[in-house]
Amino acid sequence: MSEQHQIIINGNEFSYEPGETILETARRNHIDIPTLCYLKGATPTGECRICVVEVEGARTLAASCATPAANGMIVRTESPKVVEARRLIIQLMLSSGNHNCAVRGSDSKDWTQFQLDVHQADSSSELCPVWGDCRLQDLAYRYQVSGERFPKTETVYPIESVNPFIVRDFSRCILCGRCVQACNEVQVNNAIHFGYRGASTKIIAAGDRPLKDSDCVFCGECVQACPVGALVEKDVRYRVRPRDTKKVRTTCGYCGVGCQMFLHVKDGKVVKVTGVEDVAPNYGSLCVKGRFGFDFISSPERLTVPLIKENGKFREASWDEALDLTAKKLGEIKEQHGPDSIGVLTSARITNEENYIAQKFARAVLKTNNVDHCARL
Ligand code: FES
Repeated sequence: MSEQHQIIINGNEFSYEPGETILETARRNHIDIPTLCYLKGATPTGECRICVVEVEGARTLAASCATPAANGMIVRTESPKVVEARRLIIQLMLSSGNHNCAVRGSDSKDWTQFQLDVHQADSSSELCPVWGDCRLQDLAYRYQVSGERFPKTETVYPIESVNPFIVRDFSRCILCGRCVQACNEVQVNNAIHFGYRGASTKIIAAGDRPLKDSDCVFCGECVQACPVGALVEKDVRYRVRPRDTKKVRTTCGYCGVGCQMFLHVKDGKVVKVTGVEDVAPNYGSLCVKGRFGFDFISSPERLTVPLIKENGKFREASWDEALDLTAKKLGEIKEQHGPDSIGVLTSARITNEENYIAQKFARAVLKTNNVDHCARL
């Protein structure tokens, strides 16, 4: 083995960057280690322990997300000890709270029965709202375990839905803390924290107040970070299944930052928005406008025909009439007062392409740089 910065993972030798964790080195080399609490870019907390690996010579399994790679380290990511530990963690999580997807109850059944149960549960309205888009469910499938091994512990905290955007279902919370890190370290809003202790632990806003009465700005970063169904956008909860949507990548039109986002589209309608992770400039983050401000797209109140104002009142007009009138008036103003007497104000409620055309029209046709945009909801 060469002198420095070499680590052996599953029998293969890899170089690591100084300061890199075992998880980072593994992922860079396409070795899959499952994680739940790990949030890229935030301080590793080692909260969930699902990422444990076996390090030769170490007394206990190590959380790979929080353990720095070291020269000469010999690591096994799926050894029998590791797999057994992960199975136990998943079983404990599944028995804590309400995880009523098909994986709960699969331990004692054969594979056919398990599949039949999945099929039946799949069409049930009782299912978790993020069925099919849940990291805990993924892991339960991967390691073939359920929540039957331990007695189920009920959650005492009721669902909180007294705000327009986010439903907090504490019965599905696995206390991984990703939402807390997303709020405090990524968005730096400091609105939520771990509260209470032991079995009563809960993610709370200051004073355990509802989010709407807290410092929360409803950026929704916590929802995107939640690996389970504890934090879900209110409008899609139980209305849209993740599998029913297709994702379309676009650039947010609200301001000039150019945040990259996915529109989740069902039946031609945008039903949800998420940030594109690992991509500049926003690396997955969005503000309240970008994430939740899309109802206007399908609003029945949208104007569908041009309006012309006469004697202080609007009347409907044809496109030809409206365009002729606009061209005539703009031409007259430009002729009499010059192009810089005209300003073009575009909108956050039109497409990026339409905004582009509007500025092109202002600069190339009207010959003015007086172009602005409302940038607001
Ligand atoms: Fe490493 Fe949770 S992902 S401890």
